[in-house]
Amino acid sequence: MSSTTSNGHDQPDGASRRDFLGLVTGAFAAIGTAAVAWSLIDSMNPAADVIAAGAPMDIDVGKIEPGQQIIVRWRGMPILFVNRTAEMVATLKNKADEARLADPGSAVEQQPAYAKNWHRSVKPELAVLVGICTHLGCLPEYLPKPDPTEPVTNWPGGYLCPCHGSKYDLAGRVYQNVPAPYNLPVPPYHFLDPKTVRVGQNPAGVSFSLSGVVQL
Ligand code: FES
Repeated sequence: MSSTTSNGHDQPDGASRRDFLGLVTGAFAAIGTAAVAWSLIDSMNPAADVIAAGAPMDIDVGKIEPGQQIIVRWRGMPILFVNRTAEMVATLKNKADEARLADPGSAVEQQPAYAKNWHRSVKPELAVLVGICTHLGCLPEYLPKPDPTEPVTNWPGGYLCPCHGSKYDLAGRVYQNVPAPYNLPVPPYHFLDPKTVRVGQNPAGVSFSLSGVVQL
């Protein structure tokens, strides 16, 4: 027996999307860099009842090392922040890789208008993504430089979902011919200053909510 998700994909018996999400968010501590990052930013988080209410959160992105990813829990979701190096940003413009993406121009509404660009973010050097695979909700693994001895076919690195092998680039753009149908969502956010991002709040005058994306 299986149930069907909103995007028409089957998922195992009795496992709701919320169950999957609970599993992946509970797995934070098992992720090396993320575990360090979690302790780094945990003290900045508002009280639990504020988080539960979905209030915006301010993140000090100035502490993220070049190439490093940190993960923050917001509204129970893993929000990924990557300080992309110039080399990583350059990979997003590789035409050969772009040709293998399912939605290189972010035509599907998986992001706010201010992230509908080639780097899917406000600033090219900082990625802000919801870390929920658009197939069945696992947490994609951050692999900016995959093991060269075990290369994944036609994939230079980015995010690899351990559940069924979906591949994304460093902007959360999904590759063709994988189970995941859509790019990773981008949450509402804006910069309060060059080192501080407020997640959960759009820039002034913009209206966007994750409730409006095609697949979360
Ligand atoms: S949950 Fe199936 S590939 Fe990610």
